[in-house]
Amino acid sequence: KPYAIGIDLGGTKVIAAIVDQNGSILSQANAPTQKEDAAEIVISRIGDLVSSVLADSGVGISQIRGIGIATAGIIDTNRQMVIFASNLNWSDVAIGDKLGQRFGVPVQLINDANSAAVAEWAFGSASGTDDLIYVTVSTGVGAGIISGGRLITGIGDSAGEFGHISLDPEGPLCACGNRGCLENYVSGLALAKMAQEQLQAGAESSLRTVCEGELGRITAKEIGEQAESGDPLSISLMKQAGYYLGVGLTNLIHLFNPQVIVFGGGVMKNGRILLEEAERVIRQRCISRMASQATFQFTTMGAEAGVLGAAGLYFPAARKQVAV
Ligand code: BGC
Ligand code: NA
Ligand code: ZN
Repeated sequence: KPYAIGIDLGGTKVIAAIVDQNGSILSQANAPTQKEDAAEIVISRIGDLVSSVLADSGVGISQIRGIGIATAGIIDTNRQMVIFASNLNWSDVAIGDKLGQRFGVPVQLINDANSAAVAEWAFGSASGTDDLIYVTVSTGVGAGIISGGRLITGIGDSAGEFGHISLDPEGPLCACGNRGCLENYVSGLALAKMAQEQLQAGAESSLRTVCEGELGRITAKEIGEQAESGDPLSISLMKQAGYYLGVGLTNLIHLFNPQVIVFGGGVMKNGRILLEEAERVIRQRCISRMASQATFQFTTMGAEAGVLGAAGLYFPAARKQVAV
């Protein structure tokens, strides 16, 4: 069976793709996801995406080894369940069983950032290094850590929850139940929330024109774009997020001494100011030798890293024998 299906399930969007053994995508499709959608609805939408990419590519289900699902959140890879994903509002969702029954093929789960890290390591521009960390700044914040040529999985396949490291023990309550998690200062959701608060308080900004007065329409995308075109409020929000990201990355660098950190996720598409500020903080705070050994780069893989890593669960050879 020469093909696998890769799914990338995030807080704003789900992508499905048919992938061959060399990591080439034959066909892909996507649909929006919202925290308000019931898990059942999201799963049947994913099933429909799978059917449509199959039809599109002309690949029959009998040629599919299995479905790999890269999902935000904490997972159980024995039962193929999502145990907890705050940005999907999912607890104990048996997504593997449901899709497995619908298509009659095996289903495997992997964390979304862990999956992208594997894809970067196998196919990306930093594929020469065995000490690579992938950091996504999207709806939430996540990481996949490859250390000494192995993905760090932990006993429950959930290592790398970078968005939920504590930066302030007394900070705001996070959707995960803890306080002051990095994700509350750096993510797409956090940026939008902070922008809305400042605008409500009367701040001047081109964001007002962009959202035509409807503050609820502002997302991190608009903030990133306006920051790039010089809007002072958007720049200051990106810098503030960059400051906290830099503090978090300093911890990551001290723990793993990486050679490369690759940045992806929607917020990083306009992430220049964010990353510049983070690098400034790292140079200031990180033990200097460890800081200078690490290089920082934006992903060159686009939105495909997640689906490639997920489909790659069925093509071990294409993944350079990364143990997952
Ligand atoms: C989740 C992570 C995920 C990240 C990016 C976080 O909220 O806890 O598992 O990797 O968002 O989607
Ligand atoms: Na992770
Ligand atoms: Zn948290």
